[in-house]
Amino acid sequence: MTHLKTRDLTPGFGSEIIGFDPKAPLDDETREQLRDLFDTRRLLLFRNIDLSHEEQARLCTMLIRKGEAETIEAMGSKESFISNKLDDGIAPFGRLQFHGDTMWAENPYQVLSLYGSEVGQPAAPTTFVDAVAAWNTLPADLRRRAEGHEVLQTAGAVRRGDMSSVLITEVENPPTTVTRIDYTHPRTGESVLHICEQMTKNVIGMPEADSEDLLTSLFAHLYKPDGQLDHNWREGDFVVFDNIALQHSRGRVVKDGPARTLRKVASPMPKLRPDQMPRWAAEGKAKEAA
Ligand SMILES: [Fe+2]
Repeated sequence: MTHLKTRDLTPGFGSEIIGFDPKAPLDDETREQLRDLFDTRRLLLFRNIDLSHEEQARLCTMLIRKGEAETIEAMGSKESFISNKLDDGIAPFGRLQFHGDTMWAENPYQVLSLYGSEVGQPAAPTTFVDAVAAWNTLPADLRRRAEGHEVLQTAGAVRRGDMSSVLITEVENPPTTVTRIDYTHPRTGESVLHICEQMTKNVIGMPEADSEDLLTSLFAHLYKPDGQLDHNWREGDFVVFDNIALQHSRGRVVKDGPARTLRKVASPMPKLRPDQMPRWAAEGKAKEAA
């Protein structure tokens, strides 16, 4: 059994695993240790490692499949990159508001990972918040107002708050789903404050002003600055995180700035029709808000 040396990135969530190469063959006990750390700390960081697409995909599925060895089911047909330099890069410029990827899907990604394959400095950080802690620490009056209500989550543009430099992406037929605000985490059973700035349109059955008022109060709690973790990217960083328990955002990226290319692997993949897919700048469809 490997003894994993860890360092807390915040008191509540995020652990760096120090001096351990996760692509090495893993024994059952080490796998269990990593899964437990993933479920309790929600984000694992490995620095200065060399990771292939396949190795990244195996680690992602291993972390959410109790008692099973690695598989490569997370791996799509081709590699995908968040990048301001590659022609087919995802989210190639602009700022991203807080969100969980595919929160608009019936079964959103449980695990999301990014590997710094080309990172110049300074690189815009990715910022994380903990939506489980946010639910657990909600003031009682806010919890009463939110509990049991449902919200509409959409992949289409929801414009609210500070929109400066936010990347706006067009989707022909944006997929949507309705979820409870107090959402039950599929693996841990914990309650999650399951709303986000970028994708939560409104509270179902509530007048628009009341809906926005409730969401604004909940966002102020969820996104309070002292609960945030900034990850400052270096090449060779591997960050794997619970995409339901945590939300992420990023600062502004510009096309002619330093390279920021992060290989992305997520699991499980929702099935989408081509007209439900976001269209990125490579197709000339994305733009930055003024
Ligand atoms: Fe994202």
